[in-house]
Amino acid sequence: MINMVFLGPPGAGKGTQSTKLVEEFGIVQISTGDILRNAVKSGSELGKLAKKYMDEGKLVPDNVIIGIVKSRLQQDDCKNGFILDGFPRTIPQAEALDDMLKNELNIELTHIINLNVPDELIMERLTGRRSCSKCGAAFHIKYNPSKKEGICDLCGGELIQRNDDKEETIKKRLDVYHKQTAQLQDYYKRSGKYFDVDGTGDPEDIFERIKEIVK
Ligand code: AP5
Ligand code: MG
Repeated sequence: MINMVFLGPPGAGKGTQSTKLVEEFGIVQISTGDILRNAVKSGSELGKLAKKYMDEGKLVPDNVIIGIVKSRLQQDDCKNGFILDGFPRTIPQAEALDDMLKNELNIELTHIINLNVPDELIMERLTGRRSCSKCGAAFHIKYNPSKKEGICDLCGGELIQRNDDKEETIKKRLDVYHKQTAQLQDYYKRSGKYFDVDGTGDPEDIFERIKEIVK
């Protein structure tokens, strides 16, 4: 069973590696960023609220995010395993997750994987990223180009540049990561299920490192 939390800075490759894990192990990816971007696209109340924060590189308030994840984890498809990509991102979110897993869902996390990538590499990864507007898959103009320019290899959707992948916003997101999210490493180190993974190098090699841990 794989019930995983993916930690790591913006651009660490959480989405890229999640796509591979979903394919290999038939588990579901729960990306709070993708859920929020879909809400923005649909123009829902949640989307309107979230957009302000996301465009500035700030975190959406904990209570909003916690509610979203709780209802997502209750869906049947999570029973075969899941990856939480981009959640939790604050200590209150991690505590709320512990509480809902234990007291409401009766499931345990199996792996907390922290993808390590130095800040210097993040800017190039994120300014060169192209994301599928339909399925959220990530490509890179240099490191992971799609087969047909502008078109998603996986679903044929249109590739776009994310609103928050501008240099100024990336700096802000990194800052928020160091101030609010990086401390989750210490939070989870006590669990005995925490693993640091080198997130640099070829995505396939990184995937092998992760498979070594989860198999
Ligand atoms: P979210 O969508 O989660 O963004 P993020 O954490 O900033 O992470 P990214 O998606 O940017 O990076 P990634 O690690 O997935 O990297 P990827 O695989 O794409 O969150 C967006 C916003 O939503 C937040 O700012 C916040 O406002 C809000 N939000 C979301 N969750 C929240 C929460 N829990 N609480 C509050 N607010 C929340 O890879 C990046 C690029 O690098 C790609 O181009 C890829 O092709 C390339 N790449 C990947 N691996 C490699 C490699 N090994 N070598 C070279 N290039 C690579
Ligand atoms: Mg992502």
